[in-house]
Amino acid sequence: LEYTEPFRPQYHFTPSKNWINDPSGLLYHDGIYHLFFQYNPASAEWGNMSWGHATSKDLTHWDERPVALLARGYPENVTEMYFTGSAVADVNNTSGLGVDGKVPLVAMYTSMYPMAQGLPSGKHVREEQQSQSIAYSLDEGETWTTYDAENPVIHNPPAGYEAEYKNFRDPFVFWHQDTQRWIAVTALASVHKLAIWSSDNLKEWSFLSEFGPYNAVGGVWECPNMFQLPVEDDSATKKWVMVLGLNPGGPPGTVGSGTQYFIGDFDGTTFKADENSVYPGNQTSNWLDWGPDFYAATSYNGLPEGDVVQIAWMNNWQYAAKVPVEPWRSAMTIPRQLSLKTIDEKITLVQQPQKNWRSVADSQSSNQAWDTVSEGSTDLESPGKAFKIDLSFENHDSDDTRASAFAISIRASSDFEQETLVGYNFTSKEVFVDRQRSGDVSFDDTFASLYHAPLDTSDERINLQVFVDWSSVEVLAGSGEVALTTLIFPDEEATEARLVSVDGETRDVKLEIRELDSAWH
Ligand code: FRU
Repeated sequence: LEYTEPFRPQYHFTPSKNWINDPSGLLYHDGIYHLFFQYNPASAEWGNMSWGHATSKDLTHWDERPVALLARGYPENVTEMYFTGSAVADVNNTSGLGVDGKVPLVAMYTSMYPMAQGLPSGKHVREEQQSQSIAYSLDEGETWTTYDAENPVIHNPPAGYEAEYKNFRDPFVFWHQDTQRWIAVTALASVHKLAIWSSDNLKEWSFLSEFGPYNAVGGVWECPNMFQLPVEDDSATKKWVMVLGLNPGGPPGTVGSGTQYFIGDFDGTTFKADENSVYPGNQTSNWLDWGPDFYAATSYNGLPEGDVVQIAWMNNWQYAAKVPVEPWRSAMTIPRQLSLKTIDEKITLVQQPQKNWRSVADSQSSNQAWDTVSEGSTDLESPGKAFKIDLSFENHDSDDTRASAFAISIRASSDFEQETLVGYNFTSKEVFVDRQRSGDVSFDDTFASLYHAPLDTSDERINLQVFVDWSSVEVLAGSGEVALTTLIFPDEEATEARLVSVDGETRDVKLEIRELDSAWH
């Protein structure tokens, strides 16, 4: 694989060609990380939704596999599309779909029926109906069989929500240890609710409860994801986390899609959000990522308890169809290890790169330190186009000599007319990414913007981890309680970098830069 086209991510998953959106089924089984995703086999635009497939042993190097679920009737007459869902290994063969002791991998997905029709199962569906179906694989995910005898296994929305049959989607299924059964969470997208279901065999499902609306309710609610984690430094306490996507209705300052989460408890039937995870008036939210380009986040099934790794689609429905890349379109985020930390008396989701993520572990680093970085700019050696930065510096309250903001300028042209700034504003106490002059911003009116995330901390130092690839910037700030993901499309020769201290000096600055190798060669 060459993967050297302009803007081609070097250490983020992309398909060799064509459109992708949501990760649809993250499953670890027998030493292999499977990544299924929304895929159009025909072109770099949304359509013919199928499940693409890639595998990895280390979440760094990916091997694109044959399409797992090809839209039914493709290409002439698509009668069923395979929308977002999830996948599990049915190790106890509860489904009975395993034969000769082979563990069936089971995918649960939304069947989107473009036209009314009778199905092999004898069920009838209406035009544009969304229902939940399953498929299984007996060869480690290489080939899949849709379970046509019964599909769809959740035919209609729960009682009371019959009218929502066109907006009922994205099942996230997982094994619930305490009650020894399968749980699936689905979205009732237009009414800002999630519906929770249970099953003993992945085939027959009972409706259990609903959740929502709470906090951010712009646009639709979709792509739920749910998992349990221990609370750091208090490992006797375990909490459940509910994640969901909004489109549009993302974080303040963004336009288009975004991702929020709730901390709470799940008793096997009902998810109840903690009081301090819900805000009155739908004004605020717990944003999983404050940038514009992080959506449909979902976590791996099949990992040991407490090991939660998420991947999200690194794009935004606002302009996903227009980003200036070809012959593929869209990438996934780096794999993020999640944990829960109590910060200012609040249980908070914290993100770090997945603990064994090879791109970071193997690379060479260069270190620099300054007692004081004076006002203005400080030149740095060019870090290239794919690298990781660790930048930390002393926190301070505003005074005459100290900076109001401190940033690193990256992917800059030699005259710094083009640059992306990643930094911290000491006055507003916010992390920011400014992509207003980041390169090609012409394809969408809202793209040239500055994004910010609150990091109101009394910590003595501000820490920023910045992952830069050929067309993206992912920032993890503090101990990872703030994430901010943005796409950028800089000129190929824009590889300069410098530090910028605004209106005063910044003290005790440490900078580590690691080049990140291509994961494709
Ligand atoms: C979210 C989404 C899902 C749907 C899928 C279709 O990005 O709209 O709700 O299942 O994309 O591709």
